[in-house]
Amino acid sequence: MCGIFGYVTNKEEALGPILIEAAERLTYRGYDSVGAATLNNGNIDLRKDVGKVDAVAAKYNIAEMRGQRGITQLRWATFGEPSQVNSQPHIDSDGDMVGAHNGNVVNNVELREQFIAEGMTVRSQNDGETCVHAVERYINRGYEFIDAIRLAYGDLEGDYAFVIGRANDDKLYAFKKGSGMVVGLGEGFTCVSSDLPSILPLTREVIRPQDGEIVTLWADKVEVRSVKDGKLIDRKQETVTESMDAVQKGGYPHFMLKEIHEQSQVARELSHVLNGNKEVDVLVEKMKQARHLYFIGCGTSYHAASVGAVYFAQLAGRAVIPVLAPQFVPQYAPTVNHEDVGIFVSQSGETKDVLNALEAAEARGMACFGLANVVGSTLTKATSFSLPLCCGYEISVPATKTFTNQVVTFLYLAYKMAGLDTRELDIIPDLMNKTLEMVAPQVEAIAKDINDWNDMYCLGYGATYPIALEGALKLKEITYAHCEGMLSTEFKHGPLSAVSKGFPIIFVSDGSAVPLIISGINEVKVRGARTIVIGEEDARLRANGDDLIVLPKSDPQIAALLGVLPLQLLSYHMSVMRGFDPDFPRNLSKTLTVD
Ligand code: G6P
Repeated sequence: MCGIFGYVTNKEEALGPILIEAAERLTYRGYDSVGAATLNNGNIDLRKDVGKVDAVAAKYNIAEMRGQRGITQLRWATFGEPSQVNSQPHIDSDGDMVGAHNGNVVNNVELREQFIAEGMTVRSQNDGETCVHAVERYINRGYEFIDAIRLAYGDLEGDYAFVIGRANDDKLYAFKKGSGMVVGLGEGFTCVSSDLPSILPLTREVIRPQDGEIVTLWADKVEVRSVKDGKLIDRKQETVTESMDAVQKGGYPHFMLKEIHEQSQVARELSHVLNGNKEVDVLVEKMKQARHLYFIGCGTSYHAASVGAVYFAQLAGRAVIPVLAPQFVPQYAPTVNHEDVGIFVSQSGETKDVLNALEAAEARGMACFGLANVVGSTLTKATSFSLPLCCGYEISVPATKTFTNQVVTFLYLAYKMAGLDTRELDIIPDLMNKTLEMVAPQVEAIAKDINDWNDMYCLGYGATYPIALEGALKLKEITYAHCEGMLSTEFKHGPLSAVSKGFPIIFVSDGSAVPLIISGINEVKVRGARTIVIGEEDARLRANGDDLIVLPKSDPQIAALLGVLPLQLLSYHMSVMRGFDPDFPRNLSKTLTVD
């Protein structure tokens, strides 16, 4: 997830060290490129490149940069691969303005074409540059700076925060839409950033601008104006009292809980990016023509691939083979050719097992595409193209928001394959929030009840079968208990012998096969199991299960997706109750680059 930081003082100063420290404090968000710009008396000094903060700072001697204003940015690639030219900040055509953003401008491609047609110099593919030209466009047409920003805001679609300054000026300007932004007020300086951690060591006095507000920063004051009418807004100053650690976790005790609650926001950003992405249409066309379709991944990503395969069958009538990457090599690679299409799914884009499968598929001429969170990773470079997951950095080892965005991507692709209206999926983020609100207290109480058990099952059917596998994986990863995910109907073929009094068995229902789930519940209940059911309100499920964790009403495909949220929360609470750190479970690594 990109991060921005801007700093304004009243005279020329050594700003390099301040910018480097602010950039270091943004690194926890994840990034691939770093840049810094200083502005002073009509001059702009811009230095940027791909790499870590210390490496880029050393290579370009950022510490020596001086100025009256400064901007630094860490980039997490979405539009345009990680490269020096795509790194931020960006200058306008003449080089007398400089700006940087975080977030996604989803009409980036269209706007860039317009800017080129209007005679502006567009140097990169990056949407941060698009924000700069969006302001330049209206300056060229003779508007005052604030009015140019107001008009640019109307042109820039998506979720982002943006900071910009002019060489011949003493101020910076910032505005936001959908992304976080905080302004800091210190002794003799002001600053603005994507989040609090980069501001807190400088000052604890802050203002929190809202969407559709423009902030002008001088060294000794700030002004907040409405984008709508340009009028001044009285946004109150507050004093932050929380610790740095609490602030980095967004007020949550662990990154995992923070990331669980970020799922609706990243799903919203993803849908913006998918809607504006021409590569989606190319991919859908390729998949329509394909002889066989494979979705390939490991761990959580494999579970998302498996949910996707069910969606493709249910919605588009297309068979897909979901496959664990290492098994692709012996079982499918010998059979594939150029008529087949594979989507390689990976949060990190670096999982060796996935890259091995990709190599085997490419050797046979299969058409290979990626679905990855880390743009610029080996997978995104090695495939024809890769769709981004738009989740930003996922710090916690157990994947949560990247899983749900993988599933949302597959659901979106299934809709496209079926010729359905993808706008129907716009309700997903709100339903995710609603689910978390509805289930949270009950899930915590159930976690307490079953926490002494070190053996459990999680069962599903259809699209909830891989959801059950994912729930079981989460429980194993961070509670260290054994939890097996299974097809609910398979339980009677063996595992039933494990059931004893109170034995916890979780059922996930998407509402489409309730009688089957009820049979499963009763088979284990009569043998003493404690049955915990996740599903929509249904008198039959309520009458048969011991607990019903109620999901909001939705279509079966969305219900399956929502079903994973209580499982994430259950594993989180059980992990914490057991005294473990859910963010960093023993023996596990977020990215496995070995066979
Ligand atoms: C590791 C992680 C899992 C993850 C798997 C695949 O085992 O611990 O959480 O699901 O790798 O990772 P990927 O980055 O390819 O999605």
